[in-house]
Amino acid sequence: MRIGVLTGGGDCPGLNGVIRGVVRKGVKEYGYEFVGFRDGWKGPLEGLTMPLTLESTRGILPKGGTILGSSRTNPFKIENGVERIKENLEKMGIDALVAIGGEDTLGVATKLDALGVKVVGVPKTIDNDLNNTDYTFGFDTSVNIAMEAIDRLHTTAESHHRPIVVEVMGRHAGWIALHAGIAGGATAILIPEVKFSVDKVCDYVKSRFKDGFAPIIVVAEGAIPQDGDMIVKDGELDAFGHVKLSGIGDWLAKEIEAKTGLEARCAVLGHIQRGGTPSAFDRVLSTRFGVHAITAIHDGDFGKMVALHGTAIARVPLASATEKLKVVDPSLYAETEVFFG
Ligand code: F6P
Repeated sequence: MRIGVLTGGGDCPGLNGVIRGVVRKGVKEYGYEFVGFRDGWKGPLEGLTMPLTLESTRGILPKGGTILGSSRTNPFKIENGVERIKENLEKMGIDALVAIGGEDTLGVATKLDALGVKVVGVPKTIDNDLNNTDYTFGFDTSVNIAMEAIDRLHTTAESHHRPIVVEVMGRHAGWIALHAGIAGGATAILIPEVKFSVDKVCDYVKSRFKDGFAPIIVVAEGAIPQDGDMIVKDGELDAFGHVKLSGIGDWLAKEIEAKTGLEARCAVLGHIQRGGTPSAFDRVLSTRFGVHAITAIHDGDFGKMVALHGTAIARVPLASATEKLKVVDPSLYAETEVFFG
């Protein structure tokens, strides 16, 4: 068998762990050959490849990013995109694909599966918002990065008696904000799922100062104020068609200054959360996902995604990954509110 592998969408720590797992198990146990497709769906669309062998995947487990490159190319938005992919796969003798990605990449994989392309999906995203898996790889690393940043911001905030707003990623789901905020002892955590009151945030800020501590407010980039809208960067769209986010942190810091008279600061963590070496948890999860994805291919179980259910790796229908977003349950959020203020 000749297997194509691609990584699409925003990169994330652990992508190389999956690639290594897939290749190691596929070559050593099943004698498969691999073709690495470059830059997400752009690879099979334009026939951009690189060799994937035991040798070329050695030593990549601790490396962040993806050796294959990534993009947000959507073949369904490109003229004859699907036909071109099918033709290229045929020409290169590719029997099946491993698609490693989030909502967009796996959404495309689901549609291609329905059109007869043999594909198995692997759930990736730092946002942890894919349905039907308890965790995606990359999430744990980004939570640890954000937690460390919050720890550091606490000390400078306290020295200067300032509130600091920390903006983290999370477009429609507040998983990073919630976990990093709990782990970092935030004064308030604001997530897209629950609209927030600026006045309440200001009350939390003032109450934290009363105890002699400086407040840290963690806000997800997609969080929405009660009487406003989601704040977008400059109205520009990415290649897949999503509006670019970021700006809520600065906006909130200015609101806090205006309403409390305190000098506030904002730190936007941005792509730092996606870069660098994966945590031990993500190295293990991505390795297991890779091994199980190639086993699914070996079993001829196409149209499936490997998923984490409890501590076991399950196989679920690919379509179930994107049928709805896995968002933070309001009751889970409510558990954390006792620590606010
Ligand atoms: O991977 C998802 C994500 O982390 C979102 O939270 C964020 O809005 C987006 O990526 C930004 O990615 P990029 O700048 O690469 O388009």
